[in-house]
Amino acid sequence: MSNIYSIIKESNELLSFDDVLLLPKYSSVRSRLSVDTSSTLCGISLSVPIVSSPMDTVTESLMAINIGRHGGAGIIHRFMDKKEQLWNLLNVSRASRDNNFISPPVIPAIGVGEDEISRLEFILKGIGSVDAIAIDIANGHSSLMKEMVCNVNSLTGGGTPIIAGNVATGDGFSFLADCGVSAVRVGIGGGSICKTRIMTGYGLPTLTSVALCDAARDSGGYNEVSIIADGGVRYPSDLVKSLASGANFVMCGRVLAGTDSSPGDVVTINESRVKLYRGMASSEAQIARGTGKKPGTCSEGVSTHIEFTGSLEGVLEDFVGGLRSAMTYAGVQNILDLKESSIFSRVSSSSLDESHAFGTKQ
Ligand code: IMP
Repeated sequence: MSNIYSIIKESNELLSFDDVLLLPKYSSVRSRLSVDTSSTLCGISLSVPIVSSPMDTVTESLMAINIGRHGGAGIIHRFMDKKEQLWNLLNVSRASRDNNFISPPVIPAIGVGEDEISRLEFILKGIGSVDAIAIDIANGHSSLMKEMVCNVNSLTGGGTPIIAGNVATGDGFSFLADCGVSAVRVGIGGGSICKTRIMTGYGLPTLTSVALCDAARDSGGYNEVSIIADGGVRYPSDLVKSLASGANFVMCGRVLAGTDSSPGDVVTINESRVKLYRGMASSEAQIARGTGKKPGTCSEGVSTHIEFTGSLEGVLEDFVGGLRSAMTYAGVQNILDLKESSIFSRVSSSSLDESHAFGTKQ
């Protein structure tokens, strides 16, 4: 296991991606193209350890198909009518049958409660089967989640793997692992469009949450349960640091929302080409889905426009390229060894400044 957990425990500080760097090691890896970047999600081996967020400005069928064909996975969001969600899932399922490409996994997101069970019932009736089901709520460490996992398992006979979240602590991870889920989304309050920490004071840096959940996985013997680091991934190095801390995947919203495969059009604002990206708990998203903000609640997300970053393929290539290169600095051939061999060090704020390409600063 990497040393990030002991650094956090000893310092009693909650560390973020920018607080640490990884120590380069002796390497006998001769080519970055020889390393294995694959990771297993719900029994499916994916060559790209990236999952796209179930958000209405990130993952509909185009994203799920394209990220799936490039080796990752996309979760079709639940903030639409069940018929429309089924239509999106059927598109992904049809793409899965095309032998010329890697099969994209078919994964719907659902919420909790009776309506969401009938959503799932409707989807399963229409599509037959799916690769996994993501139960997508803000606080996965909850009785609502436990009941929903039971209800989903009753409906599917327990045969369909469940991705559940989100949680931020080792206790939250163990709770979901005990519920029998296959993968846990880890991270509360770290999303780039998230206001949860400001509105409630709750949350943890995603890197810290991953380290805590990884330690809980080790001590509880939940080796088969995957960790998906969710919220705050900006650079390929955040992917690398997440995996080196024990995540099996990262989940990305913002990084993918700016590409050509996310829903929505490219628009020009102040001479920049941009796309809409919004938190699913933002007032704007709630208004768009016709519910509006419920009385007595607050919005915990924001809506913004982000730079159009071009092809999804280009973004994924950058991320996987960064990961491959990192594996040569670590001298490892696969993601498991990356975690086992990683040595994190804390950095000062001046070192952070140095980390960026400061040669271009005026
Ligand atoms: P990003 O990749 O940093 O943009 O974070 C995306 C993640 O933020 C998603 O996968 C969700 O876990 C989380 N998220 C999505 N919408 C909201 C919201 O409105 N409030 C808080 N968190 C959100």
